[in-house]
Amino acid sequence: MDKLIKVENLKKVYKISERKRGLPGKIANLFVPKFKKKVAVDGISFTINEGEAVGFIGPNGAGKSTTIKMLSGILYPDEGTIDVNGLSPYKNRTKYVANIGVVFGQKSQLQWDLPVIDSFELLRRIYSIPKADYESRVNQFRELLDLDSFIKQPVRQLSLGQRMRADIAAAFLHSPKIIFLDEPTIGLDVVAKEKIRNFIRYINKETNTTIIFTTHDMKDISETCDRLIIIDKGHIIYDGKFDEIVNKFSSERCMVIEFANKYESIDIDNVDIKDINEYKKEIRFNTNIKPIKELINEINNKYEVKDFTVNEVDIDDIVIKIYETGEI
Ligand SMILES: Nc1ncnc2c1ncn2[C@@H]1O[C@H](COP(=O)(O)OP(=O)(O)O)[C@@H](O)[C@H]1O
Ligand SMILES: [Mg+2]
Repeated sequence: MDKLIKVENLKKVYKISERKRGLPGKIANLFVPKFKKKVAVDGISFTINEGEAVGFIGPNGAGKSTTIKMLSGILYPDEGTIDVNGLSPYKNRTKYVANIGVVFGQKSQLQWDLPVIDSFELLRRIYSIPKADYESRVNQFRELLDLDSFIKQPVRQLSLGQRMRADIAAAFLHSPKIIFLDEPTIGLDVVAKEKIRNFIRYINKETNTTIIFTTHDMKDISETCDRLIIIDKGHIIYDGKFDEIVNKFSSERCMVIEFANKYESIDIDNVDIKDINEYKKEIRFNTNIKPIKELINEINNKYEVKDFTVNEVDIDDIVIKIYETGEI
């Protein structure tokens, strides 16, 4: 398959001014360095094939947005190289932006005071989208993203979910080869999220558009992306199939036990125990290390059990654990 995006040893260091204001500050400034350095992205490398949909996740401050900004050419890297279809994101901007679409959940690219459809029309001119292509795409997006009820309203009047759907449509209007989505589902309700996921999956499959999708919602990933890149403190800590992570943790279980008696704490080896209250405890374990039969026997021998449930650990919990430990 064709490697569309090649990123090598990409690094970004922010310089944060430490200078103080006022006269005492100015005097103090003579003795402190002008800037503090923050390494946001610390030499990451990866390649992405044409048509891939990649989930890009990590805890807050991991360096996701900084990476997306460098990939889309908004920020200049301090080190490393980005090659997108033979182009560099920060050189030859006009040619580059014709190939990409960007959506930032936190910031709209639409004209605040214009009706949504006028913003679309503006983009048609900016990107010189042929009229017929434009018409057919707008009609398709109106239907897929359910835009009709608000397409004539100014952006400032829209709900967050409506605004996001309009923003996403706008980013796809010029049928870019690559779309960068930075937390497009943040703060949205389940219905709006579902519409966005369906749309992204549809476009990815139908038009072979390459997708890089940043989110905190694992369902966004499981429903749209086959591949997952996990970044933590500016480093890539996982790059592989989404299913592999799920399989790796498929022997993890979570048992919630309700005891017949009060127990301040309970004592069982090779498991993680969380006290819900004196009667209820949550036990996390791996069936390869602690077979369920052994665990049940041990609990029964030591304590009076009233009730219990056993569930698979869900992917959110797995991801939190990966973030906390920094390893997989
Ligand atoms: N403009 C900036 N100036 C200084 N530091 C920044 C700036 N933007 C981001 N950072 C810092 O860089 C790190 C990575 O930020 P970011 O890429 O936004 O992370 P994420 O999107 O994964 O939450 C964080 O520690 C953040 O505080
Ligand atoms: Mg971010």
